[in-house]
Amino acid sequence: MVSERVQSQVFGEVAADYDDVRPGYPVEIADRIVAYAGRRPQSIVEVGAGTGKGTEVLRTLDAPITCVEPDAAMAGVLRRRFADDELVAIEVSRFEDWTSPVTGVDLLASAQAWHWVGREVRTRLAAAALAPGGVIALFAHDFGFADDDTATAMQNVYLKYAPEIAHGVPANVHPDVFHPDELRISPLFTDFEKQDVIRVVPFPTPRYLRLLSTFSPHRMLPEDRRVRLHQAIADLIDGRGGVLHQQLTTGLVLARRAA
Ligand SMILES: C[S@@+](CC[C@H](N)C(=O)[O-])C[C@H]1O[C@@H](n2cnc3c(N)ncnc32)[C@H](O)[C@@H]1O
Repeated sequence: MVSERVQSQVFGEVAADYDDVRPGYPVEIADRIVAYAGRRPQSIVEVGAGTGKGTEVLRTLDAPITCVEPDAAMAGVLRRRFADDELVAIEVSRFEDWTSPVTGVDLLASAQAWHWVGREVRTRLAAAALAPGGVIALFAHDFGFADDDTATAMQNVYLKYAPEIAHGVPANVHPDVFHPDELRISPLFTDFEKQDVIRVVPFPTPRYLRLLSTFSPHRMLPEDRRVRLHQAIADLIDGRGGVLHQQLTTGLVLARRAA
């Protein structure tokens, strides 16, 4: 029997490439979390840790981190990365199936993964996992373009070759990533804040195509259509000098468990 691929589970198919080409997170994310919380956390759970790109930043906080990651291939890269690190523990599990410590943790963080946790349960589960006054920190990149002309041209390529994933430029991220409104309005959380860190990262054409191949909307396209889309994107970038300047806006959403 051929099992149907599930969009939240396609990252492990390209775990090594994911780890190589996905941009990491600015280390100041950790500083901003501490500034918001008013102190360093003594315990952290990271949801959807993947290969450890968010973990690297959280690790600078020098507190024990439990990484909850359901994909065995992603967790394999993560395990190798932190093999000698006593502060990093790895649980191969969905967050929905993970049992949080009874005392709760000081910080629940998730990098580019919160949208994969069931929308109907995630806010409640986050509050239950946190100690009183604990902080939730969700961060993720918005993969934009450094100039408007490229953004418009790219959008036109998506509209022509893959309109179903052309949900706004750049059409590379799950539409749910930056909509944590449920946190802002939830009585379980307070002091909601959203901050951005912006930088520009150059991607030569081949590396950009490898990056796109790690995005789940691209991975879910039928192979022949993905090939045509990627060829059109390659032609576009090559026609503009062969390097795409990606504007990375790393959004950081912060909220505190209500008393
Ligand atoms: C886009 S990757 C982000 C990985 C890493 N945090 C990063 O920033 O590179 C999303 C991760 O969420 C994981 N994931 C999917 N469903 C999940 C769930 N229900 N609970 C926890 N993690 C989940 C996937 O296996 C994948 O590793």
